[in-house]
Amino acid sequence: MIELKNITKTFNPGTVNEHKAIDNLNLVLNEGDFITVIGSNGAGKSTLLNIISGSLEADTGFILLNGTNVANLSEHRRAPYFGHVFQDPMKGTATDMTVIENLALARNRGKRNSMFRWSISNKDKSYYEEQLKSLGLGLESRLYQKVGLLSGGQRQAITLLMATISQKPSFKQIRKDYVKFNPARRDEAKEEVERVYHEQKEIYKAKVKSIVKDHGLSVQEKSHKIKEAYNAFDTKIREYDVTKPVLLLDEHTAALDPKTASKVLEITERIVREQHLTTIMITHNMNDAIKYGNRLIMMSKGKITVDVSGDEKKKLTITQLLDMFSKSSENDTLSDSAILG
Ligand SMILES: Nc1ncnc2c1ncn2[C@@H]1O[C@H](COP(=O)(O)OP(=O)(O)O)[C@@H](O)[C@H]1O
Ligand SMILES: [Mg+2]
Repeated sequence: MIELKNITKTFNPGTVNEHKAIDNLNLVLNEGDFITVIGSNGAGKSTLLNIISGSLEADTGFILLNGTNVANLSEHRRAPYFGHVFQDPMKGTATDMTVIENLALARNRGKRNSMFRWSISNKDKSYYEEQLKSLGLGLESRLYQKVGLLSGGQRQAITLLMATISQKPSFKQIRKDYVKFNPARRDEAKEEVERVYHEQKEIYKAKVKSIVKDHGLSVQEKSHKIKEAYNAFDTKIREYDVTKPVLLLDEHTAALDPKTASKVLEITERIVREQHLTTIMITHNMNDAIKYGNRLIMMSKGKITVDVSGDEKKKLTITQLLDMFSKSSENDTLSDSAILG
């Protein structure tokens, strides 16, 4: 869970260019929230994400990540907790490095011993191939090509992977961290995570047993089904991984053509769903803001003016959004692209 409390940011204070970009903002992101953010140009959307990731320092306020204030941690120290993806496809990947080198660098980020950064085992290689294959862009056959040769959409898809493939902790570590990150309900948290772990393990074991006994299945089918059962088990336990990155997407499809943009959004949605990532996605496209995520916020002049979630969010129409915007944001206008989508 992330809590933003009383965040304020003024650019160029005390000068003629003084501008309050974030104005005493409060926001609670629940675990697994996928929030879309819309608002006029200059509303403070990018500034907000930059403050969360640490690339900008707020003037006042706290940023609590699972109860710990990270507002004073440097961007570098915060990096493992946040995956920040920008509009410009050139920003997220290293042009002169190959696809596999970019992925390896991202996966080993935060590791101290740089000696190991560059050793890529066969096991790693097949992991990267599998990840690239899941993007559905044919990139698994281009592991050793320089990223500079790829299209903007392909680069954004790789940037998304890079933001979300940091080294996965063991189940034991996940249980330990979950308890550590819930200090206020320590015993309860421990009981909960241990119970879920053992329940899921039993379910997995029972599935394997019945797959093995099923004489109608070929050896290949059996191994496929067992793998599927394991993945389901793995996914359930990883819901408790509190060290998963929070995804911060700043109009990451705005520079792409519409077809590629929607492909990258589909990939985004799948990664977020499969890994249960808490996500904030700024978009200028109202259709996308309505279509994706479980919650929508609107910003105007450094404040959150609308915050809708659940069924209310699902039923929103563009007309309603425009209406909400004009009611909540006097003297502020949405860009044409936001309205036209
Ligand atoms: N580094 C900066 N220095 C001065 N002003 C800035 C800086 N970054 C953003 N601003 C100003 O703060 C306001 C909010 O900017 P931004 O967060 O980029 O808006 P949005 O992403 O919603 O379009 C704008 O008026 C912008 O000009
Ligand atoms: Mg912006």
